[in-house]
Amino acid sequence: IKIEVVKNKEEGGKVAYRLIKEAMEEGAEVFGLATGSTPEMLYKELRESDLDFSDKIAVNLDEYIGLEADHPQSYEHFMKEQLFNDKPFKETHIPDGLATEEDENERYDEILEKNPIDVQILGIGTNAHIGFNEPGTPFDTKTHKIKLTEDTIQANKRYFESEDEVPDYAYSMGIASIMAAKKIILMAYGKNKAEAIEKTVNGPVSEDVPASILQKHPDVVIIVDEEAASQL
Ligand code: F6R
Repeated sequence: IKIEVVKNKEEGGKVAYRLIKEAMEEGAEVFGLATGSTPEMLYKELRESDLDFSDKIAVNLDEYIGLEADHPQSYEHFMKEQLFNDKPFKETHIPDGLATEEDENERYDEILEKNPIDVQILGIGTNAHIGFNEPGTPFDTKTHKIKLTEDTIQANKRYFESEDEVPDYAYSMGIASIMAAKKIILMAYGKNKAEAIEKTVNGPVSEDVPASILQKHPDVVIIVDEEAASQL
């Protein structure tokens, strides 16, 4: 794991942007994307850049179950606002929060098989989840339905009018699919991510710390601000 310590999110977004640009120059075509506050500055850099994604493919990590695609808190809506409306891709894929579990797991795994990810963007939960793979998720999982933990619901309620409106379940790409990406760029900002980052980088590889599996991946860059790096 390569660690890049940056001053803030803005600088982190620029570093991640540069890595993506370099990967594109080397032929990257499929991008695994994350939502949440962490990649926002990266998406701003991409929106404002002259990079052309019109022949590229985006495959998102996860989606809440039960939200319509155009719900203001759906990840589909988030991605359109943050990136896709300004930077059209040839194809964009996000789990369908209204599909049944059986259909969606199969459909999404087929998409992932057909489109091996060149660069995977990740944030990390305070409990070290990646995608919505909460602690305890087996490392060999593919797309699956997840019950969000209380930590995650608490962390994500800021986007909803009330805690009750946060969905209890999500579909997420599995850890096996994340690990299959050629290159992984994980970003983390702020003190509340420091412990998760420390365990991810230095801790034992354990399903209790989902991101710790990244120690086994050959090409991971973790971009952190000083607060998130403070326990390293
Ligand atoms: C989002 C995702 C999650 C987030 C994580 C951090 O698609 O997969 O793992 O990356 O919950 O969220 P933020 O960036 O809001 O702190």
